[in-house]
Amino acid sequence: MSFPSWTPTTRHDAYPSIDPSRPELSSKGKVVIVTGGGRGIGRATALAFAKSGARAVIITSRTESAIAEVAEEITKLGSEARYFSADATDQARIQEVFGATKAEFGSIDVVVNNAGYLPDEALIKDAQIDDWWAAFEINTKGGFIAIQAFVQHASPGATLISTVTALAHSAYYPGFSSYGASKLALLKIMQDVHEEHPEYRVFSIQPGIIDTVTSSKSKLPEQDTGKYVLLCSQCDNLRFNADRNPLHSRSPCRFHSVAFQRRIRLRQGENVVGKLGCGRTDGQKR
Ligand SMILES: NC(=O)c1ccc[n+]([C@@H]2O[C@H](COP(=O)([O-])OP(=O)(O)OC[C@H]3O[C@@H](n4cnc5c(N)ncnc54)[C@H](OP(=O)(O)O)[C@@H]3O)[C@@H](O)[C@H]2O)c1
Repeated sequence: MSFPSWTPTTRHDAYPSIDPSRPELSSKGKVVIVTGGGRGIGRATALAFAKSGARAVIITSRTESAIAEVAEEITKLGSEARYFSADATDQARIQEVFGATKAEFGSIDVVVNNAGYLPDEALIKDAQIDDWWAAFEINTKGGFIAIQAFVQHASPGATLISTVTALAHSAYYPGFSSYGASKLALLKIMQDVHEEHPEYRVFSIQPGIIDTVTSSKSKLPEQDTGKYVLLCSQCDNLRFNADRNPLHSRSPCRFHSVAFQRRIRLRQGENVVGKLGCGRTDGQKR
């Protein structure tokens, strides 16, 4: 099975135009929270923000040893680091994380809502209901808890990013009914944030298939269905006509659906210039 690819070149690493150390992509002074920051995409994202000069990078996940290690790496890159063991579905704990961050640093500028769960692959007739539902608990409920904390605590102009899927929510992929549906719900909630909160910048990212602990459950080969590009700088280079899609009618460059991202790529060629990118997380195979 193959996912559609939008770019002529499949890349496995960040390339120069999206390198987080580029001065125009700096996140200097920004306070960034990454959920699921202990490994995989979340870890790479947290480190990329540190490389781009963030003031502080705060990471969460359930495995304290993993986030402690990533926090050390963040510190070595020059940003302040904090880590909180937190289950994404524990609203009180997530509120504590956001409250403590705001109290210590005074602002929350970027939230990467990334913690996620892929159930065991199973056709509908075979699915085990508890595992099937776990995706909704973590991806949808957990995602909503982080999103709600963001809109309650983030500074005006802040950026919200959700890691959605590799398109599993938009096409039929056998055995992924729970994952696709739970991420589709998350995508819809992100649209609603966009409508309810014009003061924020809201992005849903489809990172392709990146070889991580989670994706290894799917047995799908690593594939690039679009660069994982975080769009947290001033982003003027991504302003374009959003009027053609009613979802984006209010303002440009605020919410990116899959089709929207595709149009950006068609306009800009292969490179989507934004904050930073990672097509591959450390340690994974090509
Ligand atoms: N890899 C891909 O190809 C791909 C494609 C599309 C979308 N995604 C999405 O990208 C995100 C990151 O996944 P990944 O591929 O980087 O997988 P990963 O390496 O397995 O990382 C998943 C992260 O989420 C955390 N997590 C899982 N359940 C959690 C919970 N209940 N509470 C708090 N943290 C939790 C994990 O930490 P603990 O287990 O220690 O809590 C881990 O840090 C997910 O939302 C995934 O659906 C991945």
